[in-house]
Parts: sequence; structure tokens; C-alpha cells
Amino acid sequence: MRYAILGGSFNPIHLGHLFLADTVLSSLNYDRVILVPAFQSPFKPGALDVVSARDRLDMLAASIAGDPRLTIDDCEIRREGVSYTIDTLDYVIRRYLPEGKPGLILGDDLAADFPRWRRYTEITGQADLIIARRLFSGEHSYPYPCRQIKNEVMTISSAMVREHIAVDGGWRYLVPAGARSIIEDRGLYGLGGGTAEAVVNERPPADEAGKTALPQAAVPAEEISRELLVRLENAARESLSSGRFLHSRNTALLTWDLCRRFGMDPRSGYLAGITHDLGKPLDEKTLLELAGRDGGEITRLERKKPSLLHGRAAAVLLRERFGIHNKDILEAVAWHTEGSADMGPLGKALYIADKIEVSREGVEPELREAGLAGTGPLAGGEPGEALDRLFAAVLDETVSFLKSKKMDLSEETLRLLEKMKGKAV
Ligand SMILES: [Fe+2]
Ligand SMILES: [Fe+2]
Repeated sequence: MRYAILGGSFNPIHLGHLFLADTVLSSLNYDRVILVPAFQSPFKPGALDVVSARDRLDMLAASIAGDPRLTIDDCEIRREGVSYTIDTLDYVIRRYLPEGKPGLILGDDLAADFPRWRRYTEITGQADLIIARRLFSGEHSYPYPCRQIKNEVMTISSAMVREHIAVDGGWRYLVPAGARSIIEDRGLYGLGGGTAEAVVNERPPADEAGKTALPQAAVPAEEISRELLVRLENAARESLSSGRFLHSRNTALLTWDLCRRFGMDPRSGYLAGITHDLGKPLDEKTLLELAGRDGGEITRLERKKPSLLHGRAAAVLLRERFGIHNKDILEAVAWHTEGSADMGPLGKALYIADKIEVSREGVEPELREAGLAGTGPLAGGEPGEALDRLFAAVLDETVSFLKSKKMDLSEETLRLLEKMKGKAV
């Protein structure tokens, strides 16, 4: 196995690092690149741009998932203090038993200083030096043996990414998706002093009588990590048809929007929306089996038509496979098909979004107007009332549609209808 080494602080890893590693792998004959993050003193002043070694390692690992051509070695972090490249090289040769000399990738910004490195002639004896472009184009002559690659220069640096993060100024697609999730979830590099979390936690003001309009969803935003949302979204994408997945994503987006509008936690809304149809592709036997584990009874209608159980089955999957125990979310997902007289605000938001999201055909214009834009006769007023009004209208529309198709309504749906009729909305 032929190895090349790419060292750096990876603070944070960005697309330029991975692009360079990939270019070396593709253009030279190496099998694997070892990424070696440098130790960095945790006591360095200017704490904002210093994150823990664990954070840097996690960002690296999350960024190379599923790519067997890349690996990480934390030897310099374990060694602590100043690491010399010759020591790392010795270690790699001893540990990895590379075929031939390992490659050592060096940016041309460091190349001029290379002869000042500790035991540099030993380095060139034991490794093939690969000089990559960072500053210069064209060939340069260096007073030591090396190979220059003609990589395209990506003008991204970790310092630039950190600066952009600190002011929340457009950084999210400069780093691999896995690293982005960790930066956001952990609020690294001073993120979170700005707009993102403030928006997530936005709540409506209490009305004049002093009561808040809606109970807040039980899970605060920070408990639903971006990593979890990405994992669930990937699971949905893998198991659903592309059309059904796009519907789920649109439902997630609209539930997020409705949650923000009505003062609930938008991440709970997104989570419920992206997963609500996870039960759709399951066969009838599996649906009955899964739904049978949620503690509720299976009605005669559900037994006759197990596809009605796809919401309940999805909620069981969320709990058992993904460890989601939040009651509001599980109920919202479980009840999105038949509805329930016990539905809470999150369940109502999901129900609305599922029925009127932007790719749904045949949605009544005033429902679209109220749901998507928050305008028109159905919108406005106190948030709790506005949500109930919109929900009642969407429910009415759905029930009329089911009746027109001569489809059976479940007892739970009828109970819900009764309840909503009883409400003066
Ligand atoms: Fe559904
Ligand atoms: Fe759906």
C-alpha cells in the first residue's frame, strides 16, 4: 500500500484540504492519504479560533466518512508539544509499513523554508516530497529533491473559514458537510453569537392577556443536533422513492416554517416532517408488527387497511432505531395519517404541512395562502387561534376529499372532527 501524508492544523478542515488529497491520490500513484492534524496548544490566547483537539479530530472524521482512500492519524496530538515532521515520518513508516517511500505533501508556501526543518535531508531520504500549489503557478526550482503537482489552487484557508464563521458570513459550503454539522452543533469558532440560534429560538410575544399562545414543544432546539437531522434525512432518502423523499423534505421545510411562525421549536418540526413517511415503503405485515409495539390498539379499519399505520410505524422506528423519545414528535408522526383528538400544536403543524406542502397538487388557494405565505382570510390573529383555524380548514378539506372518494374515516378522525367543530375557531 502506498501512502502519502498531509499534515496541517485542520482548524477546521475545509474543501481545499480534501481537494488536495484527492488530487494527489488521482494524479500520483498513492492508495491512501494519511491526514495528520498538528497538536495545538489549548492554552493559546485568542480562544475563539482554538477549538479542542477532539473537535478537530471529530470534524476530520465526519468529513471523510465512507472514503477508504483517506485516513486520520492523531500521533502528533498524542505526542503533544512541538512535533517534528521527521518524527511523524518515522512513526508512519514503522506503523504503516508503506510500500516504497511515503509521499509527504507540502504547500509551496512552506517549501522555501523546508531546508530549515529539523533533519530535512533525512526527510527527503525517507519520503518523496510533493509540493502542491498554494501561492504560485508554474514550476519552481527547489534546492532539494521533490515533485511538483499542478493542482488548481482553491483560495480557501482555515483562517478565512474561521473569520467567516465568527461573523456568520457565508462559510457553510467551504467545509465538508460533516464538519459543518459539528461546527453548528457545538457552536465552534464563535458561531452562535450571531443570528442562527436567535432565529431558532424565536418565540412569539405573549398576547395582551399575558398568556402565551401555544405550549412550547418539549425539546429545546439544542437537543436536536444538526447531525441527527442529517442522519434522519439520509435514512429517509435511502428508504423512500425520490418523489416521496421530495414530499418529505417539503413537508419538513413547511413544518419548520409553521413552527417558527407559531412559536414552536423549528428543529422538532423539521425532524417530524422529514421522517413522517418513513413507514410508507413497509409491507403490511411489518406495519402491523411495528404499530403493535406503540402501546395503542390496532383498530378494525387499520387492520383492514394497514397502510393507515404508516405514521404509527414511523414513530416506532424513530423511537427504537433512532432513539427519539420526545412525546410531541412521536405523536405528531404517529398521528399524521388519521389525526387524533389529542393532537398538540406540533402534530397540527405537521398535519397541515403534509397536506399542503408546495409540491402537493390540488390544494385550495386559501389554504396555500395561509399555510405557505401566512396571509389571507385564514391567517392572522393570535398564533394559537390561527394555527387551529388553519388546521381545521385543512382537516375539513381532507375529510371532504376522503368522503368524495367514498373512503372510510377512522373513529379517531371522527373524534378529531367533532373536537375541532366544538372549538369556536
Ligand atoms: Fe403519510
Ligand atoms: Fe406525507
